[in-house]
Amino acid sequence: MKRALFVGTGAYLPERVMTNDELAALVDTSDEWIVERTGIRRRHIAADGETTSDLAYAAARDALANAGVAVGELDLIVLATATPDETFPATATAVQARLGAPGIAAFDVQAVCTGFIYALAVADNFIRAGQASTVLVIGAETFSRILDWEDRTTCVLFGDGAGAVVLRAEADPDNDRGILSTHLHADGRQHDMLYVDGGPSSTRSTGYLRMRGREVFRHAVVNLSQVVHEALDANGLSADAVDWLVPHQANKRIIDFTAKKLGLPAEKIVLTVEEHGNTSAASVPLALNDAVRDGRIRQGDLVLMEAMGGGFTWGAALARW
Ligand code: ACO
Repeated sequence: MKRALFVGTGAYLPERVMTNDELAALVDTSDEWIVERTGIRRRHIAADGETTSDLAYAAARDALANAGVAVGELDLIVLATATPDETFPATATAVQARLGAPGIAAFDVQAVCTGFIYALAVADNFIRAGQASTVLVIGAETFSRILDWEDRTTCVLFGDGAGAVVLRAEADPDNDRGILSTHLHADGRQHDMLYVDGGPSSTRSTGYLRMRGREVFRHAVVNLSQVVHEALDANGLSADAVDWLVPHQANKRIIDFTAKKLGLPAEKIVLTVEEHGNTSAASVPLALNDAVRDGRIRQGDLVLMEAMGGGFTWGAALARW
């Protein structure tokens, strides 16, 4: 059985940084409230005309350069986003065209904040099935475009960005590196907790993000704790074996709760929420890229990734770097 090995990571964040104080000038909020409830201090916001595919393309180029992989070696692009450039075609095809990789398969995956974990699972299964050998997986979002900037309960939480990884099929049976397993879940009954009140088939408009924050929080801590244990159990590993937890960066309190349930010390958690806010499908690959590029995550480390988002969807991936 082939394994999907991580061979490179990349990221892109829009130039414009918006602080909590700037938000306090727009809505009735404060830096103190936002930091205390979420851990977020600032977020990046895409420039006018800067699209999700622009962010995704920049992150993809960075990941390919970091991997030392040529565009011509790719045979699949999977892009996770809930904020595509257009209803169709898939944003992945815009990235494919700009990279100059015509002919290879390219499609989007939509699982909101869990999008990157879903995309990683899809790519991993393509590799295990022998249907792809070098895959670009991207998480990219421009949530600033679907925020109601008059709703203080949501507009303070999100940011824009993109992260990417390059996966390669590894056939060496002695090598225990690569993605060990992925675990995906959804519960569509929870639609009203977190959704966008628009879409081509319902309102013909883009709509705005709506959320029942307290209920989302309550479900997140339960679902995330369950799925990280599911991933560890499936591999016969205990939490002690985890070198790095790379969680979805929604809220520091949710992350702390999940880490505490696992008994993981703060030094093993990769945190970017303070600087990025919640970038939905981009948050896990952005955090991964930070920790790989600054040398924290090293070859052989056991890395546990998790996320939860609208749907609800939630999932985890366990990998030996
Ligand atoms: N600034 C100041 N006050 C605010 C703000 C704000 N930005 N937003 C809400 N408040 C007020 C509320 O109006 C409320 O006031 P009231 O008591 O007078 O009615 C008070 O603060 C408390 O509101 P709650 O919603 O109960 O606050 P809570 O402690 O639950 O924190 C938060 C809100 C941060 C949204 C929290 O519920 C949360 O993080 N939920 C998870 C949401 C999330 O992460 N969503 C992302 C997508 S899903 C995912 O990625 C996991």
